[in-house]
Amino acid sequence: MLEGSDRTREGAARTRGSARPRPAGRRPAARPAAAEVEPAARPGEAKGEPEPVARLAHRHLLGMLGVTAGEITLILDTAKSLAEVSTRAIKKVPALRGKTIVNFFMEPSTRTRSSFEIAEKRLSADTLNFSPSTSSVVKGESLLDTARNLEAMTPDMIVIRHKASGAPHFLARHCRSNIINAGDGAHEHPTQALLDAFTIREKKGRLAGLRVAIVGDLMHSRVFRSNAFLLKTMGADVIACGPPTLLPPELPRLGMQVTYRMDEAVEGADVIMMLRVQRERQRGGAFPTAREYYNLFGLTSERVRRARSDVIIMHPGPMNRGVEIDSAVADGPYSVILDQVTNGVAVRMAVLYLLAGGTLGELAG
Ligand code: CP
Repeated sequence: MLEGSDRTREGAARTRGSARPRPAGRRPAARPAAAEVEPAARPGEAKGEPEPVARLAHRHLLGMLGVTAGEITLILDTAKSLAEVSTRAIKKVPALRGKTIVNFFMEPSTRTRSSFEIAEKRLSADTLNFSPSTSSVVKGESLLDTARNLEAMTPDMIVIRHKASGAPHFLARHCRSNIINAGDGAHEHPTQALLDAFTIREKKGRLAGLRVAIVGDLMHSRVFRSNAFLLKTMGADVIACGPPTLLPPELPRLGMQVTYRMDEAVEGADVIMMLRVQRERQRGGAFPTAREYYNLFGLTSERVRRARSDVIIMHPGPMNRGVEIDSAVADGPYSVILDQVTNGVAVRMAVLYLLAGGTLGELAG
Protein backbone atom coordinates (compact mmCIF):
# COMPACT_ATOMS: atom_id res chain seq x y z
CA MET A 1 0.00 0.00 0.00
CA LEU A 2 1.48 3.25 -1.17
CA GLU A 3 -0.38 5.83 0.84
CA GLY A 4 -0.72 9.51 1.43
CA SER A 5 -1.45 10.69 -2.09
CA ASP A 6 -2.98 14.14 -2.39
CA ARG A 7 -3.88 13.34 -5.98
CA THR A 8 -6.05 10.75 -7.63
CA ARG A 9 -4.22 7.42 -7.80
CA GLU A 10 -2.70 6.64 -11.18
CA GLY A 11 -5.02 4.22 -12.91
CA ALA A 12 -4.52 0.55 -13.56
CA ALA A 13 -1.28 -0.53 -15.17
CA ARG A 14 -0.72 0.90 -18.60
CA THR A 15 0.71 -1.35 -21.23
CA ARG A 16 3.56 -0.43 -23.55
CA GLY A 17 2.51 1.98 -26.28
CA SER A 18 -0.29 3.60 -24.30
CA ALA A 19 -0.09 7.26 -23.34
CA ARG A 20 2.03 8.00 -20.30
CA PRO A 21 0.35 9.90 -17.49
CA ARG A 22 1.24 13.56 -17.15
CA PRO A 23 3.96 14.02 -14.53
CA ALA A 24 2.53 15.36 -11.31
CA GLY A 25 3.87 18.65 -10.05
CA ARG A 26 5.85 17.34 -7.11
CA ARG A 27 9.20 18.77 -6.16
CA PRO A 28 11.84 16.28 -7.27
CA ALA A 29 14.76 15.10 -5.18
CA ALA A 30 18.14 16.49 -6.14
CA ARG A 31 18.90 14.41 -9.16
CA PRO A 32 22.16 12.71 -10.00
CA ALA A 33 23.83 14.21 -13.06
CA ALA A 34 22.99 12.24 -16.19
CA ALA A 35 26.55 10.99 -16.45
CA GLU A 36 26.38 9.64 -12.89
CA VAL A 37 23.66 7.06 -13.41
CA GLU A 38 23.30 5.18 -16.66
CA PRO A 39 19.78 4.56 -17.95
CA ALA A 40 19.22 0.81 -18.11
CA ALA A 41 17.50 -1.17 -20.82
CA ARG A 42 14.24 -2.45 -19.36
CA PRO A 43 14.33 -6.24 -18.85
CA GLY A 44 10.70 -6.73 -19.73
CA GLU A 45 10.76 -4.33 -22.66
CA ALA A 46 10.14 -6.91 -25.37
CA LYS A 47 7.67 -8.95 -23.32
CA GLY A 48 4.72 -6.60 -22.92
CA GLU A 49 5.38 -5.71 -19.29
CA PRO A 50 3.27 -2.96 -17.76
CA GLU A 51 4.42 0.54 -18.61
CA PRO A 52 5.88 2.33 -15.56
CA VAL A 53 3.95 5.32 -14.26
CA ALA A 54 5.88 8.59 -14.40
CA ARG A 55 6.37 9.00 -10.66
CA LEU A 56 5.06 7.75 -7.33
CA ALA A 57 2.08 9.82 -6.32
CA HIS A 58 2.31 8.78 -2.67
CA ARG A 59 4.16 9.81 0.47
CA HIS A 60 4.56 6.42 2.12
CA LEU A 61 5.30 2.78 1.28
CA LEU A 62 3.27 0.78 3.80
CA GLY A 63 2.64 -2.45 1.89
CA MET A 64 2.18 -3.99 -1.57
CA LEU A 65 -1.61 -4.30 -1.34
CA GLY A 66 -3.04 -1.80 -3.82
CA VAL A 67 0.26 -0.86 -5.44
CA THR A 68 -0.35 -0.95 -9.20
CA ALA A 69 1.66 -2.83 -11.80
CA GLY A 70 2.77 0.51 -13.25
CA GLU A 71 4.09 1.64 -9.86
CA ILE A 72 5.89 -1.68 -9.31
CA THR A 73 7.47 -1.44 -12.77
CA LEU A 74 8.60 2.12 -12.00
CA ILE A 75 10.32 0.98 -8.78
CA LEU A 76 11.99 -2.00 -10.48
CA ASP A 77 13.15 0.07 -13.48
CA THR A 78 14.51 2.76 -11.15
CA ALA A 79 16.35 0.10 -9.13
CA LYS A 80 17.84 -1.22 -12.36
CA SER A 81 19.24 2.23 -13.11
CA LEU A 82 20.53 2.76 -9.59
CA ALA A 83 22.14 -0.71 -9.26
CA GLU A 84 25.07 0.54 -11.29
CA VAL A 85 26.07 2.95 -8.50
CA SER A 86 27.04 0.00 -6.28
CA THR A 87 29.54 -1.27 -8.88
CA ARG A 88 31.60 1.94 -8.91
CA ALA A 89 34.86 2.65 -7.13
CA ILE A 90 33.11 5.58 -5.39
CA LYS A 91 29.65 4.25 -4.57
CA LYS A 92 27.76 7.49 -4.10
CA VAL A 93 25.43 9.88 -5.91
CA PRO A 94 24.04 13.13 -4.48
CA ALA A 95 20.35 12.30 -5.05
CA LEU A 96 19.31 12.64 -1.37
CA ARG A 97 21.97 15.08 -0.22
CA GLY A 98 20.57 17.17 2.64
CA LYS A 99 17.85 14.63 3.52
CA THR A 100 17.79 12.96 6.94
CA ILE A 101 16.49 9.40 7.32
CA VAL A 102 15.78 7.65 10.63
CA ASN A 103 16.05 3.85 10.67
CA PHE A 104 13.65 3.00 13.48
CA PHE A 105 14.07 -0.75 14.02
CA MET A 106 12.14 -2.10 17.00
CA GLU A 107 12.81 -5.72 15.99
CA PRO A 108 16.12 -7.42 15.13
CA SER A 109 17.32 -7.32 11.54
CA THR A 110 20.50 -8.24 9.71
CA ARG A 111 19.65 -7.68 6.04
CA THR A 112 16.93 -5.03 5.95
CA ARG A 113 18.49 -2.58 8.35
CA SER A 114 21.99 -2.71 6.86
CA SER A 115 20.56 -2.65 3.33
CA PHE A 116 18.53 0.51 4.04
CA GLU A 117 21.53 2.16 5.68
CA ILE A 118 23.82 1.36 2.75
CA ALA A 119 21.15 2.53 0.28
CA GLU A 120 20.75 5.81 2.17
CA LYS A 121 24.50 6.41 2.25
CA ARG A 122 24.85 5.65 -1.46
CA LEU A 123 22.25 8.35 -2.10
CA SER A 124 24.17 10.77 0.20
CA ALA A 125 21.41 11.02 2.82
CA ASP A 126 22.25 11.57 6.50
CA THR A 127 21.14 8.57 8.56
CA LEU A 128 20.27 7.90 12.18
CA ASN A 129 19.93 4.33 13.46
CA PHE A 130 17.54 4.00 16.35
CA SER A 131 17.19 0.81 18.39
CA PRO A 132 15.04 0.15 21.46
CA SER A 133 17.80 -1.23 23.70
CA THR A 134 19.69 2.08 23.70
CA SER A 135 16.66 4.38 23.83
CA SER A 136 13.99 5.47 26.29
CA VAL A 137 11.68 2.80 24.89
CA VAL A 138 13.16 0.58 27.64
CA LYS A 139 11.74 3.11 30.15
CA GLY A 140 8.26 2.64 28.71
CA GLU A 141 8.00 5.52 26.24
CA SER A 142 5.19 4.90 23.75
CA LEU A 143 5.61 4.43 20.00
CA LEU A 144 3.85 7.71 19.30
CA ASP A 145 5.87 9.72 21.82
CA THR A 146 9.08 8.18 20.53
CA ALA A 147 8.17 9.00 16.93
CA ARG A 148 7.07 12.55 17.82
CA ASN A 149 10.36 13.20 19.59
CA LEU A 150 12.35 11.87 16.63
CA GLU A 151 10.23 14.02 14.31
CA ALA A 152 10.99 17.09 16.42
CA MET A 153 14.51 16.78 15.02
CA THR A 154 13.03 17.23 11.51
CA PRO A 155 13.98 14.05 9.64
CA ASP A 156 12.56 13.61 6.13
CA MET A 157 11.85 9.87 6.21
CA ILE A 158 11.35 7.16 8.83
CA VAL A 159 12.03 3.52 7.99
CA ILE A 160 10.24 1.42 10.60
CA ARG A 161 10.31 -2.25 11.60
CA HIS A 162 7.97 -3.19 14.43
CA LYS A 163 6.52 -6.37 15.88
CA ALA A 164 3.02 -4.90 15.79
CA SER A 165 1.12 -5.17 12.50
CA GLY A 166 -0.03 -1.70 11.49
CA ALA A 167 2.70 0.26 13.33
CA PRO A 168 3.88 1.96 10.08
CA HIS A 169 0.26 2.89 9.22
CA PHE A 170 -0.10 4.40 12.69
CA LEU A 171 3.02 6.51 12.19
CA ALA A 172 1.83 7.55 8.73
CA ARG A 173 -1.32 8.97 10.32
CA HIS A 174 0.61 10.96 12.92
CA CYS A 175 3.92 11.90 11.31
CA ARG A 176 5.00 14.46 8.76
CA SER A 177 7.88 12.31 7.44
CA ASN A 178 7.65 9.76 4.62
CA ILE A 179 7.10 6.36 6.30
CA ILE A 180 8.55 3.16 4.86
CA ASN A 181 7.49 -0.22 6.23
CA ALA A 182 10.54 -2.44 6.82
CA GLY A 183 8.37 -5.26 8.21
CA ASP A 184 5.39 -5.02 10.57
CA GLY A 185 4.50 -8.12 12.56
CA ALA A 186 2.96 -10.82 10.36
CA HIS A 187 1.49 -8.18 8.03
CA GLU A 188 3.74 -6.89 5.21
CA HIS A 189 7.38 -6.43 4.19
CA PRO A 190 7.06 -4.52 0.91
CA THR A 191 10.72 -3.83 0.12
CA GLN A 192 11.46 -7.57 0.51
CA ALA A 193 8.80 -8.39 -2.11
CA LEU A 194 10.18 -5.68 -4.40
CA LEU A 195 13.74 -6.99 -4.14
CA ASP A 196 12.44 -10.52 -4.74
CA ALA A 197 10.61 -9.31 -7.86
CA PHE A 198 13.74 -7.47 -9.03
CA THR A 199 15.78 -10.67 -8.59
CA ILE A 200 13.25 -12.78 -10.49
CA ARG A 201 13.12 -10.25 -13.32
CA GLU A 202 16.91 -10.11 -13.50
CA LYS A 203 17.11 -13.91 -13.79
CA LYS A 204 14.00 -14.60 -15.88
CA GLY A 205 13.43 -11.32 -17.73
CA ARG A 206 9.79 -11.12 -16.63
CA LEU A 207 7.31 -11.89 -13.88
CA ALA A 208 4.10 -12.54 -15.81
CA GLY A 209 3.28 -16.18 -16.45
CA LEU A 210 6.00 -17.63 -14.22
CA ARG A 211 5.12 -20.49 -11.90
CA VAL A 212 6.24 -19.41 -8.43
CA ALA A 213 6.02 -21.94 -5.59
CA ILE A 214 6.04 -20.33 -2.14
CA VAL A 215 6.60 -22.89 0.59
CA GLY A 216 6.64 -22.74 4.37
CA ASP A 217 5.05 -20.92 7.27
CA LEU A 218 2.82 -18.63 5.19
CA MET A 219 0.46 -17.90 8.07
CA HIS A 220 3.01 -15.82 9.99
CA SER A 221 4.96 -14.48 7.03
CA ARG A 222 4.92 -10.79 6.12
CA VAL A 223 7.25 -11.69 3.25
CA PHE A 224 4.60 -14.04 1.87
CA ARG A 225 1.80 -11.49 2.08
CA SER A 226 3.77 -8.79 0.27
CA ASN A 227 5.00 -11.26 -2.35
CA ALA A 228 1.50 -12.65 -2.86
CA PHE A 229 0.08 -9.18 -3.59
CA LEU A 230 2.98 -8.19 -5.84
CA LEU A 231 3.20 -11.42 -7.82
CA LYS A 232 -0.55 -11.56 -8.48
CA THR A 233 -0.54 -7.92 -9.59
CA MET A 234 2.29 -8.67 -12.01
CA GLY A 235 0.57 -11.75 -13.46
CA ALA A 236 2.65 -14.60 -11.97
CA ASP A 237 1.02 -17.94 -11.12
CA VAL A 238 1.53 -18.50 -7.41
CA ILE A 239 1.23 -21.93 -5.79
CA ALA A 240 1.21 -21.90 -1.99
CA CYS A 241 2.42 -24.89 0.02
CA GLY A 242 2.89 -25.73 3.68
CA PRO A 243 1.32 -27.67 6.52
CA PRO A 244 -2.43 -26.93 6.86
CA THR A 245 -1.73 -25.44 10.29
CA LEU A 246 0.57 -22.81 8.71
CA LEU A 247 -1.48 -21.77 5.66
CA PRO A 248 -3.87 -18.81 5.99
CA PRO A 249 -7.47 -19.70 5.10
CA GLU A 250 -7.89 -16.87 2.58
CA LEU A 251 -5.43 -18.25 -0.01
CA PRO A 252 -8.00 -19.46 -2.59
CA ARG A 253 -9.74 -16.07 -2.37
CA LEU A 254 -6.41 -14.46 -3.28
CA GLY A 255 -6.48 -16.50 -6.50
CA MET A 256 -3.75 -18.95 -5.55
CA GLN A 257 -3.41 -22.66 -5.96
CA VAL A 258 -2.89 -24.40 -2.64
CA THR A 259 -1.26 -27.75 -1.98
CA TYR A 260 -0.08 -29.56 1.12
CA ARG A 261 2.26 -31.72 -0.98
CA MET A 262 5.74 -30.32 -1.53
CA ASP A 263 6.46 -32.47 -4.59
CA GLU A 264 3.36 -31.09 -6.30
CA ALA A 265 4.29 -27.50 -5.43
CA VAL A 266 7.77 -27.62 -6.95
CA GLU A 267 6.80 -29.64 -10.04
CA GLY A 268 7.65 -27.49 -13.10
CA ALA A 269 8.35 -24.40 -10.99
CA ASP A 270 10.31 -21.47 -12.46
CA VAL A 271 10.89 -20.06 -8.99
CA ILE A 272 10.86 -21.74 -5.57
CA MET A 273 10.65 -19.32 -2.68
CA MET A 274 11.29 -20.96 0.68
CA LEU A 275 10.08 -19.16 3.79
CA ARG A 276 11.34 -19.47 7.30
CA VAL A 277 9.55 -21.43 9.97
CA GLN A 278 8.77 -18.64 12.43
CA ARG A 279 8.83 -20.38 15.78
CA GLU A 280 8.76 -17.01 17.56
CA ARG A 281 5.34 -16.11 16.07
CA GLN A 282 3.74 -19.55 16.42
CA ARG A 283 1.68 -20.41 19.46
CA GLY A 284 3.03 -23.98 19.37
CA GLY A 285 1.79 -27.25 17.98
CA ALA A 286 1.86 -26.27 14.29
CA PHE A 287 3.90 -29.37 13.49
CA PRO A 288 5.35 -32.13 15.69
CA THR A 289 9.12 -31.85 15.13
CA ALA A 290 11.62 -30.00 12.97
CA ARG A 291 12.67 -33.37 11.52
CA GLU A 292 9.14 -34.16 10.40
CA TYR A 293 8.78 -30.68 8.91
CA TYR A 294 12.01 -31.19 6.95
CA ASN A 295 10.85 -34.58 5.68
CA LEU A 296 7.54 -33.18 4.43
CA PHE A 297 8.40 -29.61 3.40
CA GLY A 298 12.19 -29.22 3.36
CA LEU A 299 13.75 -28.29 0.02
CA THR A 300 16.27 -30.98 -0.91
CA SER A 301 18.30 -31.52 -4.09
CA GLU A 302 15.99 -34.39 -4.94
CA ARG A 303 12.95 -32.12 -4.82
CA VAL A 304 14.71 -29.39 -6.83
CA ARG A 305 15.02 -31.90 -9.69
CA ARG A 306 11.21 -31.81 -10.09
CA ALA A 307 11.34 -28.10 -10.97
CA ARG A 308 12.33 -26.62 -14.34
CA SER A 309 15.98 -27.07 -15.24
CA ASP A 310 16.53 -23.30 -14.96
CA VAL A 311 14.68 -22.92 -11.64
CA ILE A 312 15.89 -20.31 -9.17
CA ILE A 313 15.80 -20.91 -5.41
CA MET A 314 15.01 -17.96 -3.14
CA HIS A 315 14.88 -17.38 0.59
CA PRO A 316 14.53 -13.98 2.32
CA GLY A 317 16.66 -15.07 5.29
CA PRO A 318 17.38 -15.80 8.00
CA MET A 319 17.41 -19.48 7.02
CA ASN A 320 16.84 -22.50 9.24
CA ARG A 321 19.23 -24.86 7.47
CA GLY A 322 18.09 -28.45 7.79
CA VAL A 323 14.52 -27.38 8.64
CA GLU A 324 13.04 -25.60 5.57
CA ILE A 325 16.07 -25.89 3.29
CA ASP A 326 19.04 -28.21 2.89
CA SER A 327 22.46 -26.54 2.86
CA ALA A 328 23.31 -28.23 -0.46
CA VAL A 329 20.36 -26.33 -2.02
CA ALA A 330 20.90 -23.05 -0.16
CA ASP A 331 24.52 -22.91 -1.33
CA GLY A 332 23.95 -24.74 -4.63
CA PRO A 333 23.95 -23.66 -8.27
CA TYR A 334 20.26 -22.69 -8.44
CA SER A 335 20.35 -20.50 -5.34
CA VAL A 336 19.98 -16.72 -5.79
CA ILE A 337 19.74 -16.07 -2.07
CA LEU A 338 22.75 -13.75 -1.88
CA ASP A 339 21.70 -12.03 -5.14
CA GLN A 340 18.50 -11.10 -3.28
CA VAL A 341 20.59 -9.38 -0.62
CA THR A 342 22.70 -7.54 -3.20
CA ASN A 343 19.58 -6.40 -5.09
CA GLY A 344 17.99 -5.16 -1.88
CA VAL A 345 20.32 -2.17 -1.86
CA ALA A 346 19.31 -1.02 -5.35
CA VAL A 347 15.61 -1.57 -4.66
CA ARG A 348 15.76 0.40 -1.40
CA MET A 349 17.69 3.17 -3.15
CA ALA A 350 14.86 3.30 -5.70
CA VAL A 351 12.12 3.42 -3.07
CA LEU A 352 13.87 6.21 -1.13
CA TYR A 353 14.63 8.19 -4.28
CA LEU A 354 11.08 7.91 -5.67
CA LEU A 355 9.37 8.70 -2.36
CA ALA A 356 11.53 11.82 -2.16
CA GLY A 357 9.94 12.92 -5.43
CA GLY A 358 12.55 11.67 -7.89
CA THR A 359 11.63 10.26 -11.29
CA LEU A 360 13.09 7.63 -13.57
CA GLY A 361 13.17 10.21 -16.35
CA GLU A 362 15.49 12.41 -14.29
CA LEU A 363 17.88 9.48 -13.77
CA ALA A 364 17.99 8.95 -17.52
CA GLY A 365 18.83 12.62 -17.93
N1 CP B 1 14.70 -10.64 5.00
C1 CP B 1 14.74 -9.96 6.17
O1 CP B 1 13.84 -9.19 6.49
O2 CP B 1 15.86 -10.21 6.92
P1 CP B 1 16.22 -9.43 8.28
O3 CP B 1 15.20 -9.85 9.31
O4 CP B 1 17.61 -9.85 8.62
O5 CP B 1 16.10 -7.96 8.01
